[in-house]
Amino acid sequence: MTLPDAVIAVAGTRDAGASAARVQVPATAVTAVAGTNIALVKYWGKRDVALNLPATGSLSLTLDRLGTRTTVAFDDGASDRLILDGAPAGDAATARVSAFLDRVRARAEIGRRALVTSDNSVPTAAGLASSASGFAALALAATRAAGLTLSPPELSALARVGSGSAARSIFGGFAEMARGERADGSDAVAHALPEQGPDGASWDVRLVIAITAKGPKAMGSTAAMTHTARTSPFYDAWIASVPADLIAARAAIAARDLPALGVVAERSALRMHAAAMAADPAIIYWNAATLAAIARVRALRDAGTPVFFTIDAGPHLKALCRAPDADAVAAALRAVPGVSETLIAAPGPGARVVEAQP
Ligand code: PMV
Repeated sequence: MTLPDAVIAVAGTRDAGASAARVQVPATAVTAVAGTNIALVKYWGKRDVALNLPATGSLSLTLDRLGTRTTVAFDDGASDRLILDGAPAGDAATARVSAFLDRVRARAEIGRRALVTSDNSVPTAAGLASSASGFAALALAATRAAGLTLSPPELSALARVGSGSAARSIFGGFAEMARGERADGSDAVAHALPEQGPDGASWDVRLVIAITAKGPKAMGSTAAMTHTARTSPFYDAWIASVPADLIAARAAIAARDLPALGVVAERSALRMHAAAMAADPAIIYWNAATLAAIARVRALRDAGTPVFFTIDAGPHLKALCRAPDADAVAAALRAVPGVSETLIAAPGPGARVVEAQP
């Protein structure tokens, strides 16, 4: 599913400036959409697992055409039900959504169960960050359907409890997630980077996504982060390296300096994966095509195209480049053995409500 342009256009800034307040008449069914985001300075490690509090800040780009569309309707059902990509979801996914809805119900002081219908435009759990857009869309749709209007930082904190990276998808364009200091996580929220200017999409870069495998990733990010923290001798060095990368990334975005941002993105991804690979036993997300795609990006760069890679908790490669170079970068990556598909994404807006039935 690609999010239709019409949906994006309607989006606007419905949440801008909203403060935490009850709306008078809760809608019975609310649909929200959110774009996924790809971190350029990675989040890999938690200071609190239950609340998903990150051990460091992180910085990402929210995308336009990859994301999640979620409808939440509270009703008189005996339990929460989740329809994911057109089929009833399994017990684990339903329980994760239900636990998230418990937080919304507690806040709204309602007891009703919900029907949640969610469609992803990215392969679920393939390391393409569907949980980021998924929990951002769910946080917005569920709170509105429950009669709550949260401010963007409050929504970000709520989305974070579902998935750490989801906190960033509340915002469009370049977003930075704060580590925060408080134990309750109220300051572990994201914000749109002021360095990018008032319009989140004002720096018109592209991310070319090279799909290198089918199916879910080898190990979920929470288990992998915890395992890395417990067993990798490189974990502390990784955590210590992140603040300098955040400073460098912010400066590169303010200066619209793609090579400077690209250098930070590559070293952040490589250090994150190095920490995971050094865990015991090792966590290796890459396959042969991942490495071949890295080599292709470096070859393109040697030949004069400013293009830089990042890799998340999966085998796919995402290449950051200028808009006019995106087609050529996608063609070069598609020619890499083992790359089955490429997608070109642009900066996109933050999470927004697209439909609310009274
Ligand atoms: O939000 P989670 O728990 O799925 O973790 C995201 C981890 C990475 O995608 C690898 C990095 C990031 O910052 O998004």
